[in-house]
Amino acid sequence: MNNLRPKGTYDLFDEKGQLFLKIRDLFFQLANNFNFNFIDTPIFEYLTVFYTSGKQSDLVSKELYKFSDRSDREMALRAEGTAPVMRAIAENKLFLNNKKFFYFGQMFRYESPQKGRSRQFWQAGCEFIDLSDDSQTSAYQKLEILQLGIALLNRLNIDYKIKLNYLATQETRANYINALKQYFEQYKDKLEKVSKERLEKNPLRILDDKIESQKDFVINAPKINAFYTEAEKQDFETILSVLKDNKITFEVDSNLVRGLDYYDDLVFEFVSDSPALGQRTTILGGGCYYNLVSDFDMPPAKGVGFAIGVDRLLEILSLNTQNEREIDFYLLGFNFDEIKKFAFLANQIREENFLVEYNKKATSFTKGFKKAQKSNAKFIVFYEKDQPANTVTIKTVSTGEKQIVESLSLTIIKSLKK
Ligand code: HAM
Repeated sequence: MNNLRPKGTYDLFDEKGQLFLKIRDLFFQLANNFNFNFIDTPIFEYLTVFYTSGKQSDLVSKELYKFSDRSDREMALRAEGTAPVMRAIAENKLFLNNKKFFYFGQMFRYESPQKGRSRQFWQAGCEFIDLSDDSQTSAYQKLEILQLGIALLNRLNIDYKIKLNYLATQETRANYINALKQYFEQYKDKLEKVSKERLEKNPLRILDDKIESQKDFVINAPKINAFYTEAEKQDFETILSVLKDNKITFEVDSNLVRGLDYYDDLVFEFVSDSPALGQRTTILGGGCYYNLVSDFDMPPAKGVGFAIGVDRLLEILSLNTQNEREIDFYLLGFNFDEIKKFAFLANQIREENFLVEYNKKATSFTKGFKKAQKSNAKFIVFYEKDQPANTVTIKTVSTGEKQIVESLSLTIIKSLKK
């Protein structure tokens, strides 16, 4: 039977599988260097966990994979990481000891699948909770979050642009939303159907809708910065100057509002123009949230975080790279006497953290070499015909150079690797 794979999902293997491991390992390593603490939450939650931040966003209103379990509890597959992580932090009182958390896991959203948009996808994310009330301190906390995202993308050689905006507080946004509603009422006829619905519930979303954002009257809509209080203006300036001091290149985009309901203060997106995904695709999204934390049973605290779309990074990287797995040593035995020795040796070398393969089937010289070369090994180790006992031959594949060594000691192997 064909086509049994659910729509919007994919199987991961071969080169993309290797790339996936590379991204994951690098993210874990970097998050660790930044002193973030690993956290993993269940792949499903009570539906209400996703309702805590409001029900207006597309994600909550249209894209949740909701289901009732056999005891009629209302559940949902994990659609994003922030709300579940906050639930876990509150429930386990993690806020008493830690402020910085990172996670890596699958998310589920009922969306129209296309390149870089799946119904099951992976996010690499982090959250910094308990942001300081002091503007400078909190600017450095935000900086650290951005630096983690930047470090990952730079290490993967992925190009991106950082866009950011300051959404201030709920009160300021309420004033702004009123003005925006009045403004868009004049252009109601020119709005798309989905925007007409948003006009009532969530007019901010009209601003960064892909189609609407091209229209002149949307480009010229009132800007949120006209509604900032003095303190908010100052706070945004402080953030921008800390980012500039740290050589972060960004663009302020006053129409950037983000798709989820829980954002306040600073929001940001890293956007890629890679042909793998098409223009202006968001590969990382995040920002601050003041209210989400207080929705759970913990002292009110502000948070900031991001999530990277790992699938999108995979698309970009697999366009650029031929990611063949590189083996360090291929031990080629032609008969079982040799295979026996190599089986033992292979395991010894692996203990030194090398990638090692050996053949388990007796083979001819020609066939064996073909296979060893195909394995993409840097060194092929074998016994040459009539070679003195207790010596092996090591062939460097890139140069064709051969050397006979008395015994294949770990010292020799380590020196070859360099
Ligand atoms: P988000 O913008 O909904 O934010 O998702 C973050 C990233 O996940 C997106 O920029 C995109 O790269 C990727 N993504 C989203 N949906 C899909 C999909 N259907 N298929 C493939 N990739 C996708 C959040 O989820 C927030 N929790 C981020 C955050 C953390 N804010 C504060 N802390």
